[in-house]
Amino acid sequence: MSIQNHLLEWYDKNHRKLPFRENTEAYSIWVSEIMLQQTQMDTVIPYYLRFMTKYPSVVELSEATEEEVFKLWEGLGYYSRVRNMMKCAKAIVEEYKGHFPNQYDQLIKLPGIGPYTAGAILSIAFNLPYPAVDGNVIRVISRIYGIKEDSSLPKTKKMIEGQVRALLPQDVRHFNQALMELGAMICTPKSPECSKCPLMADCMAYLSCMQEELPYKSIKQKNTKIYLAVAIIENQHQWLLCKPNNGLLAGLWGFPSEESKDRELSKKMIEAKISKDLEMKVIGVKLLGKEKHVFSHKTWMMDIYQFLIEPSTSHSKEAIAEKTSEYDSEYNWISLDEIDRYPISNAYKKILKYL
Ligand code: ADE
Repeated sequence: MSIQNHLLEWYDKNHRKLPFRENTEAYSIWVSEIMLQQTQMDTVIPYYLRFMTKYPSVVELSEATEEEVFKLWEGLGYYSRVRNMMKCAKAIVEEYKGHFPNQYDQLIKLPGIGPYTAGAILSIAFNLPYPAVDGNVIRVISRIYGIKEDSSLPKTKKMIEGQVRALLPQDVRHFNQALMELGAMICTPKSPECSKCPLMADCMAYLSCMQEELPYKSIKQKNTKIYLAVAIIENQHQWLLCKPNNGLLAGLWGFPSEESKDRELSKKMIEAKISKDLEMKVIGVKLLGKEKHVFSHKTWMMDIYQFLIEPSTSHSKEAIAEKTSEYDSEYNWISLDEIDRYPISNAYKKILKYL
């Protein structure tokens, strides 16, 4: 039997019943694939179900506010996905009357849709012959063909896309999902279960005991340590929160903070922000504690400072909202019982216990 038939037969018997496998609508494939790009399956499923209940079609999503979608996405991370999804939903409604296009050249122009997502939509939703090469597929194909080239290079990914393209059977929809499923269930990064693999006899890596060494990656992504000085500022049982317009956590609410590789400098920067930018008179600063938050590419070493400020009318809701137009963040005084309504990233959730 061919590789394709071995794999399809295995998939037919062993695939997981996942909520987004219950239909082949482009919208639900798109939502699930965007969610799964940087996040584990078990984490994604409840978010996916809530998302589809609240926004059953691209039209509802295009009409939602960004803050509302952020609230639903809260905790999933990689929030730029939300900003791109909102732009993409609006473009689909405006340019394609609410229907996802089934042309690669059109899909690839939409915000947040790259070769992988375009390939996944075209193959899974429309059963069109396009590869969908994610990390799982890179691993499976590198092992089957014993590819020793650096898998982090774009030319290696192109080569792997070529290998998948050459393999695509009629049933692309299930074949692409079967490759991903094999990578997720059997052909795992560590200790793959080769004895259960339907492609054992076809796998160069297995036959030469190279399965743990492939795919080969020369560049390991570094994780840099950065100090973040976080300010807790209270005024009449309300706390100062801010929403940056740019950067990693743009659109989500957090606490005023400054980052630097130099710990002392981060503290000086937050002091300057509060006294100069926000024009508050600081009468005391106390270190309340430390927290750590790991992102894929950096780790925040967080110092949590309580700032005592002189009460003043210039700190009113109106005055602080004015700051919004002057700086690259929006500010607001928020009471504890209101805080749940605001989308807050996991990093800043770690600060809530200090309030
Ligand atoms: N990971 C990302 N997309 C997937 C899919 N459609 N099936 C299984 N694993 C996946």
